[in-house]
Amino acid sequence: MGAALLFLSGLFLSGCQVSAPGSFETRLIEGAKRRITVGGRNDVNPLAATEENIHAGRRNFTSYCMVCHGLDGENTGVPFADKMSPPVPPLNSPAVQAYSDGQLHWIIQNGISPSGMPAAKDIFHDEEIWQLVLYIRHLPPKRSLGEPQVYRGEPVQGVR
Ligand code: HEC
Repeated sequence: MGAALLFLSGLFLSGCQVSAPGSFETRLIEGAKRRITVGGRNDVNPLAATEENIHAGRRNFTSYCMVCHGLDGENTGVPFADKMSPPVPPLNSPAVQAYSDGQLHWIIQNGISPSGMPAAKDIFHDEEIWQLVLYIRHLPPKRSLGEPQVYRGEPVQGVR
């Protein structure tokens, strides 16, 4: 397992250095991530998709994740989203939505190393992470929430 992880991190690192990986290489990395590195595949979200839980997820997303993912999870108004390597994916994309709830929970908890996706386990407790998963499953239409105020030089306001 250690060797496999070492191999994988090498794969990711080399993936980071090339500016435009070919589609085969991209698929290889995507597939490896989905099958091997990302845990939690069979974990089931203990929370119901109530309006309250989705809203709580949105509130925390708006206070933290939006810096890179935009308020809508689709990178709206994030100036560097395409310039990160790998780029920030729209969270409503088929590639992201193909993860199981448990895998999304694992990704938020542990982050994806060595990309720019940080681990949030010291910021949000377990229930909050499951609420974030619910928000990712119920994202609003692109641009419907406007742009993050941080990039417009305005003070940040929370969602009430
Ligand atoms: C500092 C910028 C940054 C922050 C903050 C951030 N992300 Fe990410 N996120 C990224 C990047 C970059 C990727 C692409 C990672 C990759 O493809 O390896 C990503 C990818 C993801 C993915 C998809 C992973 C995949 O394999 O395609 C999910 C889901 C996600 N982020 C959720 C979140 C949530 C929820 C939060 C808040 C708790 C968050 N992110 C905070 C930068 C960030």
